[in-house]
Amino acid sequence: MKKNVDPFVHSREITEALPSGILLTAAAEGRVNTMTIGWGALGTDWGKPMFMALVRESRFTRELLDKNPEFTVNVPYGEFDKRILGFCGSKSGRDVDKIKELGLTLVDSEIVSVPGIKELPLTLECRVAARQRQEPALICEQFRKAYYPAPEDAHIMYFGEIVNTYIIS
Ligand SMILES: Cc1cc2nc3c(=O)[nH]c(=O)nc-3n(C[C@H](O)[C@H](O)[C@H](O)COP(=O)(O)O)c2cc1C
Repeated sequence: MKKNVDPFVHSREITEALPSGILLTAAAEGRVNTMTIGWGALGTDWGKPMFMALVRESRFTRELLDKNPEFTVNVPYGEFDKRILGFCGSKSGRDVDKIKELGLTLVDSEIVSVPGIKELPLTLECRVAARQRQEPALICEQFRKAYYPAPEDAHIMYFGEIVNTYIIS
């Protein structure tokens, strides 16, 4: 069952969960993959509710997003197994089927083609409205040195228009 909610009413749960990790799920060519993200922003762009995720060039997720520009954001709501975030934040979908390995329960989305995940039930369905590669040269020295020792592995900012938000039960 899905209970529709307003993403901004749940902005606190979303933004407070981010530093320890939430999931971003992508799918293309019959493959569903999820990865842990710790950076992101909930806000308004182009007059629409938007979730902006930062996905490095090297991620398998980035390949899927470029093939099918839709994703779901999967936020913990209540108790959940925290090992999910460690596993999905250290293994690549190139090497392992993380969904299968963890036994995660996929739930069909209503608008986008990418499913949600029952175990992290606060769900944002997003359609990529814009993507932008970060330019390391334009990032302040402190963060450039800390996060971009390899400038070719920059983050891509994916601005996902939030087209549906609900809690799966
Ligand atoms: C807590 C945590 C937060 C993370 N945040 C991000 C992030 O915001 N962007 C990113 O590109 N990688 C982030 N990662 C790393 C990816 O989750 C990790 O490289 C993952 O294996 C990529 O999976 P994929 O290759 O299947 O896409 C994070 C990892 C952890 C543990």
